[in-house]
Amino acid sequence: MLKRPRRNRKTAAIRGMVRETQLSVENLVQPLFLVSKETSREPVKSLPNTYRLGIRETLKEVEDSLNLGITNFILFPVVPDQYKDKFATYGHHEDNFYLKITAEIKRRFPETCLISDVAMDPYSTDGHDGLVRDGKIINDETLPILAKMAVAQAAAGFDLLGPSDMMDGRVGYMRQALDAAGYTDTGIMAYTAKYASAFYGPFRQALDSAPKAGDKKTYQMDPANQREALIEAALDIEEGADFIMVKPALNYLDVISLLKNNTETPVSAYHVSGECAMLIAAAEKGWIDLDQAVQETLMCLRRAGSDVIITYFTKHYARMMKQGYMPEERKEPKTHARKHSTKMPAFITNYKI
Ligand code: PBG
Repeated sequence: MLKRPRRNRKTAAIRGMVRETQLSVENLVQPLFLVSKETSREPVKSLPNTYRLGIRETLKEVEDSLNLGITNFILFPVVPDQYKDKFATYGHHEDNFYLKITAEIKRRFPETCLISDVAMDPYSTDGHDGLVRDGKIINDETLPILAKMAVAQAAAGFDLLGPSDMMDGRVGYMRQALDAAGYTDTGIMAYTAKYASAFYGPFRQALDSAPKAGDKKTYQMDPANQREALIEAALDIEEGADFIMVKPALNYLDVISLLKNNTETPVSAYHVSGECAMLIAAAEKGWIDLDQAVQETLMCLRRAGSDVIITYFTKHYARMMKQGYMPEERKEPKTHARKHSTKMPAFITNYKI
């Protein structure tokens, strides 16, 4: 055999040299669930190690994370029922606690990158991302509501706004509203290919934001479709998106790769709550090693083409790195120390000079 691919896998050093993909904490974004309380740290039952954080705990969490090298956060509000209404008005209300906490994080830690969530569902009595009338989600009347939310979030100091609603035309509409209000530097991380997925379960439980009636299939994408993601990507980019996102992540690696190979805009993958919960559950049963599974999962998301990964394992991974976790054990068996034969093969010794 002239070709033996195993030679390039012989030692950790060689494997390191030929590794095609790098994964760093810089690529990761930590989601945080915020509640309107001074002190509070309630665990999310369906997602171990994730909490609904009060204002003080949020600031502490951000500080701890920064010490681990994490700079990127995506924030979601857990909105009490009494603030919810049909038009999601609390989303842009001046007393909105989510906006206040954001401003405070930015004031204390300006080095953070804060990403928002633009959608009606956390604030809506219907639990849908758009305005509901006669059981239908009304696209065009949702746009000004989202734009108001976007401008309020930009004013609070978010670096990137994350429209997760999947309404048609919302990126362009928001971009115009932001520019008109003077927020030309506030970016947009568009949820471009967001699928109607079973894997958002723990998140909806954390936010208490499940739809009151029906499902999200008239606005979120059909998991059967791949090419349709190209239409969404073309529109979001044309409308001014600074990042395009695929969500969920693991069952959609082909979509991540498709968008990466067909656009120049950075691609984010949202490794969603249900996907993270599955790994934790299997690890709790002792069926998989969580550290290895996290390392492999995040690396594979990078390999598929994700520039950015939003994952509930951001802190877990950063801690692994800080504690000196090596994806590779460097102590190799000493195969190279064995005695080698110096006997020359006949085709060399018989060669006449
Ligand atoms: C809704 C929104 C959802 C998530 C982020 N934004 C849920 C949904 O569409 O119902 C899910 C994130 C996760 O599961 O981790 N605007």
